[in-house]
Amino acid sequence: MNQSTYSSRLTGFHKKTVAERIALISEIADLDDTQQALMANAGNLGAEIGDHMIENFVGTMTIPVGVATNMKVDGRDVLIPMATEESSVVAAVCNAARQSYDNGGFITSMSGTCMIAQIQLVNVPDPYNARLSILERKADIQAICDGCDPLLIQLGGGFRDLEVRIIDTQSGPMVITHIIIDTLDAMGANAVNTMAEALAPSIAQWTGGRTYLRILSNLADRRLARARCVWRTADIGGEAVRDGMVMAYHFAEADPYRAATHNKGIMNGISAVVLATGNDTRAVEAGAHAYASRLGRYSSLTRWETTADGDLSGSIEIPMAVGLVGGATKLHPMAKAALKILGVQSASALARIIAAVGLAQNFAAMKALATTGIQKGHMSLHAQNVAMMAGALGPEVDQLAQILVSNGTVRVDAAEQALATMRGQ
Ligand code: MEV
Repeated sequence: MNQSTYSSRLTGFHKKTVAERIALISEIADLDDTQQALMANAGNLGAEIGDHMIENFVGTMTIPVGVATNMKVDGRDVLIPMATEESSVVAAVCNAARQSYDNGGFITSMSGTCMIAQIQLVNVPDPYNARLSILERKADIQAICDGCDPLLIQLGGGFRDLEVRIIDTQSGPMVITHIIIDTLDAMGANAVNTMAEALAPSIAQWTGGRTYLRILSNLADRRLARARCVWRTADIGGEAVRDGMVMAYHFAEADPYRAATHNKGIMNGISAVVLATGNDTRAVEAGAHAYASRLGRYSSLTRWETTADGDLSGSIEIPMAVGLVGGATKLHPMAKAALKILGVQSASALARIIAAVGLAQNFAAMKALATTGIQKGHMSLHAQNVAMMAGALGPEVDQLAQILVSNGTVRVDAAEQALATMRGQ
C-alpha cells in the first residue's frame, strides 16, 4: 500500500497480538522481510514484557550500552552502565574520572528523597483565607496521604510537609497546595499522584473552590543530588587548561545560549545512566532544566572554581527523581543488570552517582572545548559510525575509520570512496 494513502484509523489495533500488529504495519508501510524480522526481534526486553509496558507495542529500539570505567564515588570504585547513541559520551566520563581518580574521585550527598505533588484550586474569592484553612488541616492531610500507601509508611516513607502558595495567573488567583512526600527508593510518581487525587475533594470542600490538576512536580527540588570533585591542576594539563575551563563555566553561567549547550553536555551523561537503569529520562531532564532557571535566568547546573591550592574544583546540584523500584527499573532485564553493575542499594545512592557522572561529563566537555576542541576526539569515534554508514564490514570499520581521521575527511561520501579504494574497486 502506498504510504501517502493509508489511514491511521486502525480500529482495534491495541487488541491485536504483537505478531498481528507487526504484520499489519508491515503491510501498510511495505516493510521488507529484513525490516519485519527486525520488528519481530524484541531484543533483551522481550515482546511479552514490552507488550505490557506500553500500548500498541510492535518492537524495541536498541541503544548501545557502554560501561564507563575509572569512577570513584565516595571512596568506592564504581562501574557505570550508560545507554547512549552518542559516540563520545562514555569515553568522556572514563577520561574525566581517570584524571580525578588519584585525587580521591567524587564526593556526593543528597538533600532527601521527597517528591512534591501539586493540587490546583481555582474559583476561590478569598485565596488567603483558603490558604490558611488548608494549612490548618495538616494532620487531616497527612492522614489522607498516608492512608493511600500503607506499604510506603511501613517502610518509613510518607507525608512530610505541606506548602500552600497563591499564584497570579491569566485566570485569576490560584491556590496551589504542595504535598511533600518521602517516596524512599521509588521515583514516586504513582504514589504522589494517587495522594494528590485522594486529597483534592477535601481541599475543594474545605475552601469552597474547585480543584483541577492533581499531579507531581518534576521540579523535584526536595530531591537534590549533589556531587563535588577536585582535579589537581597538574593532572589536567596545567594552569592554562584550568583557567580555560573556569572561563568556559563563566561563559555558561552568564549566557543562556551557552548554558543550554553546557547543560546538554551534563545531561549526555545523566540521561545515559537514567536510561540504562530504566528510569524516566524526561522527568530528570525537565527537573534539571527547570532547576537551572530557578533564579529567573537559565544558567549552568555546575559550578567551577579554583581552590586555595590552585586546583580545579567542580560541583553540581541537580534534582534527581530516580528510583530502584517500580516502572521499567524492575521490569527491564537490562535495567536490572545495570543496577547490579552499579551495586547500589538505594535510590539515593543511584541519584548521587548519576550526579557525579554529570559532573564528570561536564569536566570532559569543558576541557576539550577549552583546549583542542571537541571535534578531534569526537570525530575519531564518529568515524567508525561513518565507516559503517558507508558499508564497511568487520575489520574494515576500524581500518576505514583510521583512514578518514588521518585524511581529515570524516564524511560518508569520502568514506565510500576510500572503502572502494580499500577493496581495490
Ligand atoms: C555535545 O553532545 C555536548 C557538548 O556540546 C557539551 C558542551 O558544549 O559543553 C560538547
